[in-house]
Amino acid sequence: MWNSGWDKIFKKYKWGKYPDLSLVRFLSKNFNLKNKRVLELGVGTGANLNFFIEKKLKVFGIDGSKVALKIANKNLKRKKKFIKLVQGDIIKLPYQNNFFDYIIDCECLYANSLKDTKKILSEVNRVLKKGGYFFSKTFAKNTVGNHFIRKNRKKKNLNVHFIKKGYGTFRISSLSEIKKIYSSNFKILNIELEIRTTNNMKDFIKEWVVISKKV
Ligand SMILES: C[S@@+](CC[C@H](N)C(=O)[O-])C[C@H]1O[C@@H](n2cnc3c(N)ncnc32)[C@H](O)[C@@H]1O
Repeated sequence: MWNSGWDKIFKKYKWGKYPDLSLVRFLSKNFNLKNKRVLELGVGTGANLNFFIEKKLKVFGIDGSKVALKIANKNLKRKKKFIKLVQGDIIKLPYQNNFFDYIIDCECLYANSLKDTKKILSEVNRVLKKGGYFFSKTFAKNTVGNHFIRKNRKKKNLNVHFIKKGYGTFRISSLSEIKKIYSSNFKILNIELEIRTTNNMKDFIKEWVVISKKV
């Protein structure tokens, strides 16, 4: 479920201006994207949108944050007319069945509980066309958030997969969990683990990049 803490984050920080590299890599693979429909879940300030337009996709985006969508619209300027952005919670997608060729989760689903994520995945399945692709980039175990868990677990009795930050849930997934929840809705085609360091190599950021298809 969307958390209003996101509005505070977007008021405070400049988030996301440039497209995600793993997403660029995925969409640059031999697909004929012209006029295909793409939906980004949790589109935020629209970091990936210009790239979608460049690829000649028909672009749709949804986010719970009014603040983020206002920034996205401002950044898009004249290109705004090519893109349909709506405010809403992705737990119930306001689109018809079998509508999209591509659905993108670029660090959005992790901000939802496991229970909600299962509902969201079945919604994604509903609105994705047969043969359509689902790209999902989501945090993996031992990512930098895990420090937070270790530090706070004793105090707050936090669940390993589920911690609370200023914007609500920060869900960290194991590989077996990823396989279980994605394969109950899609055929998983490829899973990669992307790892990089941050804070002058003090911390690791670890994310799953999962490519699935509706069969
Ligand atoms: C980390 S940001 C990522 C933004 C964007 N995808 C990007 O790559 O820059 C996560 C976004 O997901 C949105 N979000 C999280 N859960 C949501 C939900 N259940 N419904 C709608 N939006 C949600 C937040 O408001 C936020 O804009």
